[in-house]
Amino acid sequence: MTLNALAAVTDLIGPQLAAVDAQFRQELTSDLKCVGTLVRHVGRFRGKMLRPCLLLLTARAVNPRAEPTADHVRLATVVEMVHMATLVHDDVLDEAELRRKGATINHLRGNEAAVLLGDYLISHSYHLCSGADDAAVGLPPQYASRLVARTTNRVCEGELLQLDNRNNLDLNEPTYLDIIARKTAALTAACCRLGAAFAGADAETADRMEEYGLALGTAFQIQDDILDLTGDPRDVGKTLGIDVEKGKLTLPLIHFLRTAPAEHRALLRSLLTEPNPDKAEKIRNLILPGDSLRYARDRARALVDRARSCLLDLPDTEARHALDAMAEFVVARAE
Ligand code: IPE
Ligand code: IPE
Ligand code: MG
Ligand code: MG
Repeated sequence: MTLNALAAVTDLIGPQLAAVDAQFRQELTSDLKCVGTLVRHVGRFRGKMLRPCLLLLTARAVNPRAEPTADHVRLATVVEMVHMATLVHDDVLDEAELRRKGATINHLRGNEAAVLLGDYLISHSYHLCSGADDAAVGLPPQYASRLVARTTNRVCEGELLQLDNRNNLDLNEPTYLDIIARKTAALTAACCRLGAAFAGADAETADRMEEYGLALGTAFQIQDDILDLTGDPRDVGKTLGIDVEKGKLTLPLIHFLRTAPAEHRALLRSLLTEPNPDKAEKIRNLILPGDSLRYARDRARALVDRARSCLLDLPDTEARHALDAMAEFVVARAE
């Protein structure tokens, strides 16, 4: 089941997701044809819309009597735009050719265009965010803008920490978890806090929803890293095997280097450090028979359980059930 199918099943946020799509296109409009061409390319390939779904469903779950507002739609567009900016830049760093079952901008137009398009997306996300009416829901001035900016600061820190640990074969689990909390989970956590805060949630509920988003986002990235190692690119729709190519150690590898027999560990270390045309495949074949993948899946499962536990005090509504299902989805997904 895709997340959009999930949204359709619950039939809760369909109109708001359509409005996000329209606002996304409208915000990125330019009088320049060359800009429009690039924007159309990223607009043509839709992703799972995980972050807008989280924001809109959180709003509904904490305040079931109220429809999500225009500012919820605005902020849902903002978080998807931030996410897409990070993807466009990430594909440059990873030299990826495939994204959302289409060619990446860097592959199609080169790195310069991709760097500038990523900047264009992030700049527009701040422009759009600055229009949120925080005071209308009793929030402090610039609540949304400051939260989004703080979040993108953390995303950049996560990417920089990851880069600093490139080819570090001694990367430990706490540092790995710190990297993914910043680069990925900070944004999903912000989505849930924004959805809750703009629906009038009290401070405690907003904190709980942020905690849900943080645990879900961390589980999501562990699963993403598992898929990079074991997934089928036709399902996942993006270039895989990149983490090992780029010297990024992920949870199954960290576990393997900690627990496997000495000769297997030595083999993995040499595979990771020496140039090899079939590096990813050889590493997959080495890791698969052991219990390192299971270990990573168990860690992700524990985070999903923690995320779900954050929902228990919410009213029993369809929106809460949808958030519950989304937590399950992030580890069950093959795309
Ligand atoms: C991909 O995120 C980037 C990561 C944080 C792992 P998604 O898998 O949510 O990407 P789309 O939006 O569905 O393409
Ligand atoms: C996610 O890491 C990076 C971002 C937060 C953008 P990945 O490098 O694993 O993301 P994918 O696998 O390319 O989507
Ligand atoms: Mg990548
Ligand atoms: Mg990945």
